[in-house]
This record gives sequence, structure tokens and C-alpha cells, in this order.
Amino acid sequence: MWHAQCHGFGHTVPMINCYSLPVWDVGDGADAMNKPLHICSPLLESLPMAKRAGCKVFVKCDNTQPSSSFKIRGIGHRIQKAIQKGGKHIICSSGGNAGFATAYAARQLGMPATIVIPESTPTFVADGLRNEGANVIVRGKVWDNANEYALKLAEETDGSIVIHPFDHPDVWEGHSSVIAECEREIPSKPDAVIICIGGGGLLCGVVQGMQKAGWQDVPIIAMETRGADSYNQAVMAGELVTLPDITSKAKCLGALTVCRRSLECYKEHPIISVVVDDRDAVNGCLKFLDDQRMLVELACGAALSCIYSNVLTDLQDSGKLRKDLQSVLLIVCGGSSISLDRLLEYKSSVGL
Ligand SMILES: Cc1ncc(COP(=O)(O)O)c(C=O)c1O
Repeated sequence: MWHAQCHGFGHTVPMINCYSLPVWDVGDGADAMNKPLHICSPLLESLPMAKRAGCKVFVKCDNTQPSSSFKIRGIGHRIQKAIQKGGKHIICSSGGNAGFATAYAARQLGMPATIVIPESTPTFVADGLRNEGANVIVRGKVWDNANEYALKLAEETDGSIVIHPFDHPDVWEGHSSVIAECEREIPSKPDAVIICIGGGGLLCGVVQGMQKAGWQDVPIIAMETRGADSYNQAVMAGELVTLPDITSKAKCLGALTVCRRSLECYKEHPIISVVVDDRDAVNGCLKFLDDQRMLVELACGAALSCIYSNVLTDLQDSGKLRKDLQSVLLIVCGGSSISLDRLLEYKSSVGL
């Protein structure tokens, strides 16, 4: 079950070899300051997904980023710029993936990092962050509570850089690189770009990248789950809305309020906001695992459900998208807060 709110039609991938330690080694940080911390991720054409969508489907596999999600693009860029301005200690509040990106970037750049995470973050994620060398603090029920604490901590720490997971122009600029890469590699301009939306950082970056690429007429389908649908509620209300709680299982989409810029993007670019159920997101992850043999988080499953829950075809049938789609581009945002056991638990909890 889903509903849509529609606006305005009117380098090479490095081989990661577990035995080649230099990939993960930290130098003195100097080298890492001069190049992006993200990789140019693979762009694949998915034939199984094309069969379901009825058009070509290109998947941009940002699940293969070193921190397992697209987040390293924006956060890596933001941290590099902040260090150039004299930052000495990195503090981030995150439900996981922004934290991973921060911890990874800090380690590459030889900087100390403190990550504040909400209680909803699984233990294995907290352990993974510690493994990246970060100091991990657990505070509050949802991200917004963790963020409050991170801000307080920053006030008390000299030379601290606070990394907001989604609300900063440098983060958006870094995320925009995902479109720059696709523009270079995709055979022709896609007819739609499919992403998921949490706090809106990815959306802002994608809009920025699309404007630069001359894709301003290409609609973005912004997918989120019911219970984490702060973007859909905001576009329906025409103003920012703060959800009372996050009830979706896709916790990484769970910002109580989206960033203001994401709402402005809605006025500047054709964006179709779609809300799906957790069941669709879980189904998206399961089907993608079978089709492409890649395991991604429910946040990403929300974007995948655009194909696997027939959202794309329904949008065409209802006239919100053109009938003759040639190709779509789906940003596979990835995510590390998932394991096979966890996905199977989700599967049974949603009755699949
Ligand atoms: C894997 C993943 N996908 C999507 C999102 C949503 O990104 P944004 O908050 O920039 O909208 C997040 C946010 O943490 C994430 O971790």
C-alpha cells in the first residue's frame, strides 16, 4: 500500500581485498585530504529489475562505498572542508550510517571522532563504529535526542566540528557527486531518478547534481516509509512538520523533521513523494538480494520498493509519470544496519 504526493510537471572502483591492509590503513591524513574519501561506485543495468519495471533500470551501487552507504560522499566532503578551516575533533550524532561515514573519514584523515547514537541503533553497529576507532556514546530514543546531546558535547569540546547527518551545504555538495558519476556513465539521460528520503540530505545533493547535469526536467521519486514519512507530511502541509515519533522499522529514514532545503527543492524540481509500508521496504530488500545478490538496509528497501511494489507502474497509470519511460536510475543508498538474520526477522514480522 502506498500513496504519492506529486509536484509540478506544470576512478575506477578499487578492488577491496580483505588481505590488502593498506586500503584500510591510516596514514598521517595528508594524502587523504587531497582526494575524495568515497569511491566511484559501480553503475549496473539490472535486467531482473527491468523486467518488473518495463523499462531499463540502472542501479548506482553506493552500498559498495567504504562505509557501506552513500553517506561518505557528503560527510567525507564536509569533514575535509571543516579540517581545512582548523577543526580538530569530529562529533556526529547518527542512527548509524552517517556515524560510519564520519568514523571512516576521521580514521582516514587521522582525526579523533565521537559518535553519539540513539538507543534504537543495533549493538553490532555500535561495535562496528568502535572498530573504526570512534568513541561511541549511546543517548536518547531517536536521532533527534542523540543530536541534542552531540550539540551539548560540542560546546564543551575545543576545536570540535559537529557533523550534521543531512543538513549542511557541504554534505549536499558531496552527495551531488553521485549524479556527476552517473551522468558520465549512463548511456542517456534517465526518465526518472529513484531515491529514498530520511532527513533530506541525499535529496538535496541529488537535486544539486541534477541541476548541474542539466537534468532539471527529470522527476525524482522520493520514497519513504509510513512512520518515518516526515517529508511527505511536509510537502502535503507546505511547511516543515515534526513527527511525534518514528514508528517505521526503517530507522535510518527516521528524522522527525526533514531539512528546510529539501522542502525548497520540492518547489524547484519535479519531485514525487511516495510513502510505502515497512512490508514493501522489506520486500524490496529481499527481492534485490535475490536479483542482484546484495544485502541492503530497509531505508534502501524503500527506494527499491518503487520497482518491486509496482509504484513506478502505478505512477505511470495514474498519469504522474509518463507512460513511455525508457530508463530509470535508482540510487542504491546501501546501509550497514542489516544482516541476513535481521532481514529474516523483518520478513516474518511483516508477514512475508
Ligand atoms: C542507508 C541510508 N539511506 C538513506 C538515508 C536517508 O538519507 P537522508 O537523511 O540524507 O535523506 C540514510 C540516512 O541515514 C541512510 O543511512
